[in-house]
Amino acid sequence: MSTATHEGVVVASQDHPRPVVARTRAELADARRALDGGDVAVVMTMGALHEGHAALIRRAREHARFVLVTVFLNPLQFAAGEDLSRYPRTFDSDLAICAREGVDVVFAPTPDVVYPEGDPGVRVGAGPLGEILEGRSRPGHFDGVLTVVGKMLHLSRAHVALFGQKDAQQLLMIRRMVADLDFGVEVVAVPTVREPDGLALSSRNVYLAPSDREAALSLSAALRAGADAAVEGPSAVRRAARAVLVAEPLVLVDYLVLVHPQTLLDVPEWYRGEALLAVAARVGTTRLIDNVPLRLGPGGGPLDSSTVEVPS
Ligand code: PAF
Repeated sequence: MSTATHEGVVVASQDHPRPVVARTRAELADARRALDGGDVAVVMTMGALHEGHAALIRRAREHARFVLVTVFLNPLQFAAGEDLSRYPRTFDSDLAICAREGVDVVFAPTPDVVYPEGDPGVRVGAGPLGEILEGRSRPGHFDGVLTVVGKMLHLSRAHVALFGQKDAQQLLMIRRMVADLDFGVEVVAVPTVREPDGLALSSRNVYLAPSDREAALSLSAALRAGADAAVEGPSAVRRAARAVLVAEPLVLVDYLVLVHPQTLLDVPEWYRGEALLAVAARVGTTRLIDNVPLRLGPGGGPLDSSTVEVPS
């Protein structure tokens, strides 16, 4: 019997041995000790796994002998009023995807396991980079992300950690933390996985009503239009992307920026080289983000590795 999907839900299969599931620190320590004979790659998730996570896991396999996936809905990175309580929880399906992808260990703790003393008094501070773009709309978000990522790196004792390019600012902040605080782990970026119509995969896409989903396509369409204008320089990119977004009344844009990939500061008109075109918008009740890395100037355009289509 092979793994099958039923209305988008992966159902369990006898072909794929279940990963070891660790719920406590002691169970994780035991499971992790059993992997001591080889390198370990960690893929961190908040559950609600989709093909984007599967791509991370597959890439992880290329980097290490063993793959450990964390499934933890981290309360620390959600502000009051955000979508923590309605965030999709799909553990059985998550486990089936992990089994299908040959994951060795799934660490799925509850908040009291990760934060035994309650809210941690000491957190990793994301600094100024954590206060712009996503950080401006979600104050404290990146402190919560970096704190849990730091803890999961310690607990998993991973050699390699893989994160999606879709969360470009998160990826940059994690790279900075790992370098600035000498975590000694390799960070690997994995390209965004998209539906054939361009929608970037996200656990939050399940919130989109059909009309919202249609409207949400304007985000990736705007990024494509912007990237296609990259030869002409920054203002042409911004103009082309904005034109697509303003034509879609159901999309409430939070930000649309063309920034330097390391500083996340707006690139000036004379700038040529690598840049990041990033967008955040509310569609219905759902806040979506997307981005495309691109090269500005002669021969410019989207960078090849920025998009992978979801396998059908
Ligand atoms: O990208 C996510 O899913 C989360 O921010 C992460 C990295 C798992 C930390 O909770």
